[in-house]
Amino acid sequence: MAEKIVLAYSGGLDTTVAVKWLTETRGFEVIALTIDLGSQPNLAAIRKRAIRAGASRAYVLDARRPFVERFCWPALQAGALYQGQYPLATALGRPLIAQLLVEVAAREGATWVGHGSTGKGNDQVRFDIAVGALAPHLKVLAPLRDGMSMTRDQEIAYAHSHGLPIEVKPESPYSVDENLWGRSIEAGVLEDALLKPPEDAFLWTSPVESAPDPSQLLELAFEKGVPVALDGRGLPAVDLVAELNQVGGRHGIGRIDMIEDRYVGIKSREVYEAPAAVILHAAHRAMEELALEAEAAHFKAAVAQEYARLVYQGKWFTSHRRHLDAYVASTQRFVTGQVRVTLHKGTACVVGRSSPYSLYQPRLATYSAGDQFDHQAAVGFIKLVGLPVRTQAQVQGTAVTEPLLKDDGHVVEIRPGGLESGLAEPVLAATLPGIVDPDLGR
Ligand code: ARG
Repeated sequence: MAEKIVLAYSGGLDTTVAVKWLTETRGFEVIALTIDLGSQPNLAAIRKRAIRAGASRAYVLDARRPFVERFCWPALQAGALYQGQYPLATALGRPLIAQLLVEVAAREGATWVGHGSTGKGNDQVRFDIAVGALAPHLKVLAPLRDGMSMTRDQEIAYAHSHGLPIEVKPESPYSVDENLWGRSIEAGVLEDALLKPPEDAFLWTSPVESAPDPSQLLELAFEKGVPVALDGRGLPAVDLVAELNQVGGRHGIGRIDMIEDRYVGIKSREVYEAPAAVILHAAHRAMEELALEAEAAHFKAAVAQEYARLVYQGKWFTSHRRHLDAYVASTQRFVTGQVRVTLHKGTACVVGRSSPYSLYQPRLATYSAGDQFDHQAAVGFIKLVGLPVRTQAQVQGTAVTEPLLKDDGHVVEIRPGGLESGLAEPVLAATLPGIVDPDLGR
């Protein structure tokens, strides 16, 4: 009996050829698995194509809701942006697909799972690590990486000679992956890092030039760090993200153009469209500014970076992520309230916020009448906070390497190479007259 493999099947040329190739060349029984994460695939047509290409069964699953609720929301709460920019749409989709591959494999008694990644990107790493974490007994095959090796023209010829139902569309100038959290665009002319991405790279977002001139004000509501309503309308997660992609896209929000450090060691030029994710991250950050006390806000930024790295590197199904999730969940207890955001010509700006748990207290912050802040307490506070700095200045000299004021009364000019003077020896106090700060003696 043929061994079974569950193949992540997009319906495109590569995976359609892979269904046949796995059957014919490798002798597998292929079970196709297509997952809708919000890219609006024609699921009925894809299922038919999988069967016609030779799959024994074809699953098509709508996983949009678990994708947003279980993958995007935790990443949003964590503040996870890879290299401070990329909201991780593709990277968050992969572990979900891997989990469903494993679950379908268990149901079908398959010993293999397969995916359409090449040997050059992060996606193969994410799939392979996730499958290993969830089902170490399963074997993973990625035909495009592991032996199928056909050029696009060879794939088309193979499809024709085997009667495979492919739609030969003109070759896309880019490699694209999309889901509700964003659209990832790479390759083709984008590999020229200096070239402004051509307009045809974008599908969801208007160029700034044709974005509407009147700005649009949105109000987002959060409960414990999760977005729950838009302009006062409670919305299910999927609808909220889809609507923000629409509205934000119209205003040209969420285009990202970056040089990215891939896990496999190369730098690559990546372009993204992620209107909803960009708006939600800005709004969520604003919510936290009100609700997180300063220590946690400071530390959480480091957690955000770590969380983004972990997601990017395919380590979703790890205890490390669970530890970080526990920390993040604890920080979100009071991240509840409303944020107002204006969308205008490519920019989402937070312009207002409120929370029943706001730590922003006008009676402490105000410069006007009613001020309850103890100004005199500041004197003692500064005396102690500054104590180690004064001590060091007295004992070891100041950190100033060069005076700003010249003997002639003018201010020094910055010379070329002036920056390096920062490395020079500090100016030692001309004499170290022992301890002169009265505080130090006490
Ligand atoms: N560079 C992004 C990432 O590693 C996007 C990858 C997109 N994949 C693709 N097949 N175009 O997450």
